[in-house]
Amino acid sequence: MAARALCFLLVPAIFVYAVSNVPTIGNDFVFTFFNAYVNTTPPYGVLLLALVSNNNNGTANIVVTSPYPSFKTIRVSVAPHSVLKIPITPESIQDQYPHPNITFHPHIVVEDKGIRLQSDLPVAVYAHAENFDGRSDSFLVIPAVQLGMQYVAVTSTLALFPDMIAVVAYQDNTQITIGTQTVTINALQVASVASLLFKLSGTPISGNKPFGAISGCTCGLDVALACDYEAVMLLPVGAWGTQFTAIPFMYLSKNYYQVVTNTNNTIVSAGGTIVAKLNQGEYRRIQIGTTMVTSNHPILLIQMGEDTGVENNEKGGSFFVQLPSTEKMSNTSVLFQPTGFFESYGMPLFFFLRIVTNLASAGTIQLDGATINALQFKHVPNSNFYYYETATSNTTHSVTTSNPGTQYSVMSYTYGSVAGCGFTCAFNLPVGNPIALTSAQATIQL
Ligand SMILES: *[C@@H]1O[C@H](CO)[C@@H](O)[C@H](O)[C@H]1NC(C)=O
Ligand SMILES: *[C@@H]1O[C@H](CO)[C@@H](O)[C@H](O)[C@H]1NC(C)=O
Ligand SMILES: *[C@@H]1O[C@H](CO)[C@@H](O)[C@H](O)[C@H]1NC(C)=O
Ligand SMILES: *[C@@H]1O[C@H](CO)[C@@H](O)[C@H](O)[C@H]1NC(C)=O
Ligand SMILES: *[C@@H]1O[C@H](CO)[C@@H](O)[C@H](O)[C@H]1NC(C)=O
Repeated sequence: MAARALCFLLVPAIFVYAVSNVPTIGNDFVFTFFNAYVNTTPPYGVLLLALVSNNNNGTANIVVTSPYPSFKTIRVSVAPHSVLKIPITPESIQDQYPHPNITFHPHIVVEDKGIRLQSDLPVAVYAHAENFDGRSDSFLVIPAVQLGMQYVAVTSTLALFPDMIAVVAYQDNTQITIGTQTVTINALQVASVASLLFKLSGTPISGNKPFGAISGCTCGLDVALACDYEAVMLLPVGAWGTQFTAIPFMYLSKNYYQVVTNTNNTIVSAGGTIVAKLNQGEYRRIQIGTTMVTSNHPILLIQMGEDTGVENNEKGGSFFVQLPSTEKMSNTSVLFQPTGFFESYGMPLFFFLRIVTNLASAGTIQLDGATINALQFKHVPNSNFYYYETATSNTTHSVTTSNPGTQYSVMSYTYGSVAGCGFTCAFNLPVGNPIALTSAQATIQL
């Protein structure tokens, strides 16, 4: 009888959350770092960080746990309206560290290397891995409530080190299928595959319970002279979209993107011209200028960082940033700190931020408390969308609005010497794992 009453209570809650998108802030997060370590240029070693953004008017109490034997539980507080960088050690907590399997047919490796971050107040979390020589990337950690059961991997198109897919379970007895291989893992176990010769982009990943999936490459050469870490925490298939704003990164007139689908006969267009026809399991690299990207079925679109050339002193390198579709834009205020911490070849780091919005919202958005004049936004041709792009500092920044109807998404990215990293900030995603709404705060004891 008690169980039945619980069902009645849960069903309406699930229904309410299933139909709407909510901001990518939460109380519970699971993630992992697939191996970033490369031993090509000294100094050797990898900095792993969880950056916690507390945009509340109160202190957030954080607990970070992992089953990895030499990991020690971390308990910290994040002051109101601030970002705290939490170092994650030891560096051997990276999946398949330090030398991923480079087999032609990649086999699943299971390790106790999942990381769980819980907070008593809703926060946003960004993960960052950086070799001491500056090769790095960052990703938004998708809150546990927004995890899904179906993903498609995006990895490099050309690489010196393996492509990697790493899956982290949220619950015990989660059966995961990566491509053609299936394995059952418990909460915070990680199943990963790595491959140098066999490209993993387009690989379907599915499970019987919601889980997290991170993919990319330990050192991809996609669009740069030197290889660089490329990593994204993948959006579940149910969070994909059919309309995107494609805007080249700073100093580029055209930019490379990678697109994957989960549906056969997917047609992708840029500015009305067909740029890719894809079936399930396939991927395509496309190069386009500032334009709208649309598709007849939902797609996942990744913007790829590039070396901006000799004329720009080789600023920028390979990195992945996942683009939210236009209907996932949000009115939630965002607080973030650009990533990228080690300079290489004596060149300073260059930090940039981008705000994408629509015509009605331009002029209602504040950056660090000051309204950005609508005239400072540039138009995405043949659309209702506008963007503001600027060089910035590596301090904490806020993007806010006091107009409830305003919609935007925010991106932060960084150029080093033949290197780069970036992430997209809080946008909205559907709730795919409602159990995480109730399971989070209980375990936080200070
Ligand atoms: C924030 O917290 C302080 C101290 O608790 C309080 O005085 C202030 O009114 C709060 N501001 C808002 C906007 O809630
Ligand atoms: C490589 O994969 C095999 C299984 O295919 C596994 O036994 C081995 O531990 C893996 N090596 C590393 C370094 O992960
Ligand atoms: C897509 O097409 C392939 C090859 O024709 C087929 O094996 C597969 O089942 C199709 N997938 C879906 C989702 O229809
Ligand atoms: C910002 O960059 C400067 C120079 O590279 C560095 O000294 C400083 O520690 C950085 N600040 C943060 C918050 O990362
Ligand atoms: C954001 O938009 C939602 C509706 O989409 C609204 O309910 C909410 O009040 C808005 N938030 C702010 C801070 O304006």
